[in-house]
Amino acid sequence: MSFTVELHPSGHRFEAEPGETVLEAALRAGRSPAFGCANGSCGECRARVIAGEVDRVRFHDYFITEAEKQAGYALLCSVAPRGDLVVESTEASGVEDIAPQRVRARVTRIETASDDYVVVHLKVQRARVMRYLSGQRATVRFENVPPRESWLASCPCDAVNMRFHVRRAAADPFASFVFGTLRRGVRAIVEGPTGRFVLDDESPRELLFLACDTGFAPVESLIEHAINLELEVPIRLIRAVRGRGLPYRHNYCRAWADALDDFHYRVVETPSGGESWHTLATRVLQAASCPAPGLDGVDAVDAYVAGPAGFTDACRRLLLEGGVPEGRVKTDSLD
Ligand code: FES
Repeated sequence: MSFTVELHPSGHRFEAEPGETVLEAALRAGRSPAFGCANGSCGECRARVIAGEVDRVRFHDYFITEAEKQAGYALLCSVAPRGDLVVESTEASGVEDIAPQRVRARVTRIETASDDYVVVHLKVQRARVMRYLSGQRATVRFENVPPRESWLASCPCDAVNMRFHVRRAAADPFASFVFGTLRRGVRAIVEGPTGRFVLDDESPRELLFLACDTGFAPVESLIEHAINLELEVPIRLIRAVRGRGLPYRHNYCRAWADALDDFHYRVVETPSGGESWHTLATRVLQAASCPAPGLDGVDAVDAYVAGPAGFTDACRRLLLEGGVPEGRVKTDSLD
């Protein structure tokens, strides 16, 4: 039997499974309460339980005085609800609410996503995890390699594991290191988060995601976040491929389309390989406007576009010309 937790003052609600900490349940539900280490040592998740009772299910080093306990304070990373709860907790409502961080991590997996793309999986060390919003970036540092600002492809719902997508590029020392030398167990420093390409999770509108190249990384994070929030809006994902063939992590996208009722996924290829960004963007927007059950036109969406600057600029222009208001088109590029 699960319990309902309400965060005050936001009023956001989520379910917690028996034995699950309030922090774990909040993150799994796509919420972003204040926290730092997720293991009971920093005290940043300290919050007041306004209604209901909790059980301590994890040991914690951080000391809470008896007076604080009497006043209802608890560490959200160490307690589980005993019944329905109301908790006073500051949630991040925007990128300004999250301070810059520096965390240590190790490579746990280098996943080949296609001939030209890999997904690097990192696990942070327990002293400190990275707090970020879906769609944001971070700078990854490996020893003796120029650092690289990359999109976080992972969902903030998993505080410990992070993912980055890397594209093969012979002239790029970071990519050459990742494709040629990087091994499991290598240490990394991750600094961030940065960027404002984040989800408007209060919007009632359909979500349109347009991604090209590693622009799929933040889109992957945003879509996972939207799924965790159980947003009841249709989602359209269009992936642009420069050349022929399927995009990397195509099966990942297919799995969303298979599992979710209102998820529509299409791939747009550029058969000649030499089309302009404008031509590619036009084809992408045509695919986005294709008839799909229950979907309105593109002017009724919140659009998120990520990839090379030529792609994001061209899509943005066409979306605005198509009637999507300026404030509803978010773009991000790492060029
Ligand atoms: S004590 Fe650090 S997040 Fe809970």
